[in-house]
Amino acid sequence: MNGERWYKDKVFYQIWPRSFKDGNGDGLGDLWGVLDKLDYIQSLGCDGIWFSPLYPSPGADCGYDISDYMDIAPEYGGMEAFRQVLEGAHQRGMKVIMDLVVNHTSDEHEWFRKSRQRIDPYTDYYIWRPGRDGMRRPNNWDSLFEGKAWAWDSTRKEYYLHLFARKQPDLNMDNPLVREEVKKIMRFWLDLGVDGFREDVITFISKRDDLPNDRLFPVSKGIRFYNHGPKVHEYLKEFKRDVLDEYDCFTVAEAPMVTPRQALKYIDERDGQMELMIQFEHMCADCFFSDYMPTAFSLSKLKKAFTSWQKKLSGVAWNTLYIENHDHPRIVNRYGSTEYWKQSAKMLAASYLFQQGTPFVYQGQEIGMLNWEPVDAGMYEDVQTRWQYAHTRGNPEKKLQKMWRCSRDSARTPVQWDATANAGFSEVKPWFYVNSNYPYINVAQQEKDPDSILNFYRRAIDLRKKLSCVRYGDYTEYDRNSDELYVYTRQDHRQRILVVCSFSKDKVKFKPPRGYHLEDADLVLQNYPDPTEQTLQPYECRVYLWR
Ligand code: GLC
Ligand code: CA
Repeated sequence: MNGERWYKDKVFYQIWPRSFKDGNGDGLGDLWGVLDKLDYIQSLGCDGIWFSPLYPSPGADCGYDISDYMDIAPEYGGMEAFRQVLEGAHQRGMKVIMDLVVNHTSDEHEWFRKSRQRIDPYTDYYIWRPGRDGMRRPNNWDSLFEGKAWAWDSTRKEYYLHLFARKQPDLNMDNPLVREEVKKIMRFWLDLGVDGFREDVITFISKRDDLPNDRLFPVSKGIRFYNHGPKVHEYLKEFKRDVLDEYDCFTVAEAPMVTPRQALKYIDERDGQMELMIQFEHMCADCFFSDYMPTAFSLSKLKKAFTSWQKKLSGVAWNTLYIENHDHPRIVNRYGSTEYWKQSAKMLAASYLFQQGTPFVYQGQEIGMLNWEPVDAGMYEDVQTRWQYAHTRGNPEKKLQKMWRCSRDSARTPVQWDATANAGFSEVKPWFYVNSNYPYINVAQQEKDPDSILNFYRRAIDLRKKLSCVRYGDYTEYDRNSDELYVYTRQDHRQRILVVCSFSKDKVKFKPPRGYHLEDADLVLQNYPDPTEQTLQPYECRVYLWR
C-alpha cells in the first residue's frame, strides 16, 4: 500500500457472481449482469466491489477451486466483460478487488494434472506424501469440508493434502516456484488495473513441515499445525516486497480462528504484510468454532467480540466490518428475528456500520434477504453442506432443519431483484433455487418504499461517510452487562455519536450514558417512526449526533 490509505474511506459490496444477476439469459449470474447493476451498487453508497472468484473452475466449491488463475470464466463473460466492468467501476470511483485463492487449486488445474504425473517443474507444487507404513494416511488431519485431509492418487501412488474438498489440493507454498506463480498471478491482475485482493484462507498457506499427527479430539485435527504456520509471515512479506509494494493496491486477509493479537502480526500498520483482515469472532455469537455447531445466540459474546476488535486494533491497525458473506447463513435469521424482519435487519446494519473500519455489505443483505429453506436435502449444492448432512446423526427432518440454520447455501440463492418470474434474476430457470419469499422481499419493492431496509442502508452509509468521528473517533461501549442492548459511542475532537441497538423482542428501558444529554442531540438515524425517549421497541435502533 503506497501513499494515502484510501481503503479506509470505502464501503465494499461483495458480489458472489453466480447468484448476483444473469445478463445473458442462461440462468447463471455473470459480469454482464454486474455491468447492468453498477449504478445500483453506487446508489447504495458503496464505492468498492469484492468479487468472489470469477476464474475458470469446475465448480466443486463454487469457484474456490480454480483451474486457471489468469482468465475469467467464459460463463461470466470472459476477459472482455471483466475489462468493461473494471472500467465502469473505475469511472464511478469504485475500487475492485479480486479473490485470490492460493492455498489450493482445483485438481483439474494443469499444475495438478502434471504434478500427479511427476512432470517437472510441477512435481513438488503440491503436498504429496507416501502412505504411512504402506497404505495408511500420512497423518490424522481432518479437512474442513470432506472428512480426512488426505486423498490417495492412483496415478502418482501417493497421498495429497487437501484442507478443504478433495477436489481442492493444497499448494506447497514452501516451493519457491509456487511462490513465483502467486506473484505472477498478482501482477497479472494488478497490471490489468484491479485494486487489490481478498486473500482466501491465507493464514493456512504454511504447514509445519513435519506434518505431525494431532491429538485425538480437537475440533478439527491439524489446524494448529497449519493456521498461522511457521513461514506464513515470511511468505506474505515476500509477496509484499516483490509485488504489492509496487502498486497502489491493498489486501484483505481471510483468517479463520485468529485473535486480535495474532491479527496484528499481519496487519499492524507499521510492519504488517497486509492491510485488512476478515476475522470470525463476531460471527460465532450463535455457534462454536463453525456454523455447524450451533448454540443459542449470545449478545454478550457478540458485544465482547465487537468491542475487543475495536479496542485492540485502535490506532495500530484497521478493522474489516461485516456481518454477512457467502460463507454464512443470513444475519437476520441468526442475530435478528424473522418476526421483526424489517426492524432487526436495520438494527443489525446500525450495529456494525458505525464502528471503526472498512465495511462490507454482501449481496442481498441490503434488502434483508433471509435463509433459504429447501424441502429436501438433495437440493443442496454446497460441498460442505452435503458432507455435513450425510455425517450428521438424527432423523432427516431434524437434520434438514439444522442445515437451514447452518448451510452456506442458505445465503447463496439468487438476488431478489423484483417480483417477476425468477425474482428478476434471470429470464430462464436459474442455476439455483430462488427463495420463495421473493414476491415480498425484493429490490424493486424496496426502491419504492422510503422506509425499506434498502433505503435504511443508503441512509446509514451516507451518514457514516459524513461523520469524521466514525472514521477516526474513539470507540466506547456502554451497558456492557445488558443482555438486550448494545450501546456504543464514537467521538473525535469535533463530534460524537451514540448508537443504541436493541436485540430484544420485548420493550426495553433505556437511559443514555452519563454525560450524554439527549436534549442536545439530534436523532439522525432510527428504525421506528416516533421513538419514545426511555423505551426501546423490539429491535429498535437509534443514532444520535451531538450538536
Ligand atoms: C474460504 C472461502 C470459502 C471457500 C474456502 C475454501 O473460506 O470464503 O467460500 O470454500 O475458503 O477456498
Ligand atoms: Ca449468465
